[in-house]
Amino acid sequence: EKGTYAHYMLKEMDEQPAVIRNIIQHYQNENGDIELTEGVRSLVSEADRIYIVACGTSYNAGLVGKDILERIAGIPTEVHVSSEFGYNMPLLSSRPLFVFLSQSGETADSRAVLVEVKKRGYKALTMTNVPGSTLSREANETMLLHAGPEIAVASTKAYTAQIAVLAILAYDIARANGKELPFELMPELARVATIMDSIMSQKELFEDLSDRYLKTTPNTFFIGRGLDASVCLEGALKVKEISYIQAEGYPGGELKHGSIALIEDGTPVIALISQPKTNLNIRGNVKEVVARGANACIISMQGVEHENDEFILPHVEPILAPLITVLPIQLMAYYAALARGCDVDKPRNLAKSVTVE
Ligand code: F6R
Repeated sequence: EKGTYAHYMLKEMDEQPAVIRNIIQHYQNENGDIELTEGVRSLVSEADRIYIVACGTSYNAGLVGKDILERIAGIPTEVHVSSEFGYNMPLLSSRPLFVFLSQSGETADSRAVLVEVKKRGYKALTMTNVPGSTLSREANETMLLHAGPEIAVASTKAYTAQIAVLAILAYDIARANGKELPFELMPELARVATIMDSIMSQKELFEDLSDRYLKTTPNTFFIGRGLDASVCLEGALKVKEISYIQAEGYPGGELKHGSIALIEDGTPVIALISQPKTNLNIRGNVKEVVARGANACIISMQGVEHENDEFILPHVEPILAPLITVLPIQLMAYYAALARGCDVDKPRNLAKSVTVE
């Protein structure tokens, strides 16, 4: 039930801090250590490479997961769009593990890949929000997102939940392999939840940003580098699907190889800057688009050197920054859709669960 909320999407965005706390609870034991089932642990311990397979927002979460798995757990990880997997079947390692990311657990494109990999005798782990869903039943093991039902077509809390659960998996693999851990995950996730609360209590700020940058524009760009570029893809997807603004998510450095031709006087460019090592270069890209007339909005994070006229989010460990940076752009997409009179929860041409290939 959406209760006093105008839309399910707004309610579900608001639930994200509680979802993160719920995930912490479900995946830790009484000592505060990460606890996964023996089944999941043995599946990942046998793997020499992870193949994440997903669609849409779940794919975008997978891109972030790849970075976390490679950097924290040191396990090579690839991310594939389900509907392309059959044509661009990658060369598989000797002990591949397939990880299916799916909020609904019913996405036909993903299921088709699962059927194929099982036929070939490979193992699969599904991360889903829906216990008993098809992808859960047909995989060897399941990790649940514990996000509660997601009703709005635009996926929000499932994205952050998937990233949190992927980080937990990465930490568990790292610990099993005796790798040095850069920080303690569960306390940092708890801090992330607190920061999410504070962002969600200041929604007017993002409504203002949305009014200034998105309300009347026909098109927009989200730019970033590294993990920020992955979040930009999700930002562009959110904006496209509910506000029908033509939106592109782009790695900042790639703009000058073509797309910068689209920048005109007033084109909104939203830049995400949460990763210290990308700071200088992405600011260079912002200058390039501003010189061509862009209306640039910078959303950065404490911990990167920033300027006064930008929106600065509280600091979290850079590898978990997507959990925070995605919130302002989910909110901006929501308010843009509202301002443009769009049906936020039921955008045109879309269904919550895509059960055809
Ligand atoms: C975007 C959106 C879709 C889904 C995609 C995968 O907001 O909702 O892109 O993310 O259809 O769905 P699941 O995760 O259920 O497999």
